[in-house]
Amino acid sequence: MKITVAGTGYVGLVTGVALAEIGHNVTCFDIDTEKIAQLSEGNTPIYEPGLDEILRTNQRSKRLFFTSNPELSYKGPEIVIIAVGTPEKEDGSANLSYVQSVAEHIAKYITKNEIIIVTKSTVPVGTNRKVKKWIEEDLTQPCQIHIVSNPEFLREGSALHDTFNGDRIVIGCENEEVALKMEELYAPLNVPIVHTDIESAEMIKYASNAFLATKISFINEIANICEKVGANIEDVSKGIGMDERIGPKFLQAGLGYGGSCFPKDTKALVQLAGDLQHRFQLLESVINVNNKQPLLLLQKAKNQIGNLERKKVAVLGLAFKPNTDDIRESAALILIKSLLEQGADIHVYDPIALKSAKKVLGDLVSYYETIDETILHAEVTFIATEWEDVLNYPLRKYKEYMKYPNVIDGRNCYSLEMAKKEKITYISVGRKIIV
Ligand code: UGA
Repeated sequence: MKITVAGTGYVGLVTGVALAEIGHNVTCFDIDTEKIAQLSEGNTPIYEPGLDEILRTNQRSKRLFFTSNPELSYKGPEIVIIAVGTPEKEDGSANLSYVQSVAEHIAKYITKNEIIIVTKSTVPVGTNRKVKKWIEEDLTQPCQIHIVSNPEFLREGSALHDTFNGDRIVIGCENEEVALKMEELYAPLNVPIVHTDIESAEMIKYASNAFLATKISFINEIANICEKVGANIEDVSKGIGMDERIGPKFLQAGLGYGGSCFPKDTKALVQLAGDLQHRFQLLESVINVNNKQPLLLLQKAKNQIGNLERKKVAVLGLAFKPNTDDIRESAALILIKSLLEQGADIHVYDPIALKSAKKVLGDLVSYYETIDETILHAEVTFIATEWEDVLNYPLRKYKEYMKYPNVIDGRNCYSLEMAKKEKITYISVGRKIIV
């Protein structure tokens, strides 16, 4: 099929590349000309394992094109997939201006008399119908507009894997023929399909992210109580996760969730409910627990080792999770912000995200490319992201390199047995403090 994907952010780019890989003819549109130039040369602007290779293979096979020309993008496709950003507005609601501008472009340039408009961007319930209205209002010639809500569930860092091995594909639309066409689009992926109405599909996306965020805040609260009663959160997570009704995933206690999705989508759902005179108290608490989680760890560290003013502090990991250079809403940044308020001298390490961090933190912190250099002579080390090289970093080295071996592990990277053997001060989440 001939498809245009609007937006080459995470979702758009991965979707475009994956659809080309399964044989479709895909044009990816973005207003960012620099990004398009970079992509046209076969380079991806995001760090995503495996994406570069598969992008280039499909470019060579002439199934994947990048352009900033809206006319070329929208005049001929059977399907347009909207995957532009829906950033958070000040009040927590989703900013739909990018979606609206895609709608304007489609209305202006479309030459066909029928088209399927698929929304993959995370949009508040009711937006798909607005998109249809926006396009219809601006059409310069008659065209039948079919809309489909088709939310995305891919994770950064494993986006390709998630696309090719998804748990489900959700298709929300009103027309049976269109639903079949969508099935045909995704058939080679061989992923189970859930058909719903448009509003339910829109809600599935928010409800999924809100539920996963709830699971994380829940386990973090249990971890906080474990610390008080002397229990071990790792064992508790294992024990509850073996109940099939609960499941083992997303029960990893730590500094809390970050990234471009959970923080934004949970706030947007609270806002959406509020606009409809429903106070979503459960989700409000999930957000509050998450905001507090990095600060609790910091407080625990201060209780143990005292004031951090002018002390050399190392922070390992800046990305909101491993395998991405994305630092948006990262727990590490919340931690660093409060360390700065305490007047600490901060030295940071991340294997991939230093460049993005520099844009935000500037010269407020010192940047290092190795863990050894970062922790050298430090009085405290905070572990904020469980990168593979942090997980594999020998605990004994903290003792060798640091001035005082105080390791504050926000991601429970080491076992308590290992920490005990090394005679360091080891403070983690939901587990006993080792001194
Ligand atoms: C999330 C969802 O997992 C995807 O299904 C969804 O498509 C995506 O948002 C989106 O809406 O676009 P992502 O933000 O890439 O994906 O990251 P996750 O892997 O879900 O992790 C989110 C955060 O939760 C990370 O900061 C991670 O460290 C934290 N987390 C995750 C925990 O603290 N504990 C866990 O057990 C799991």
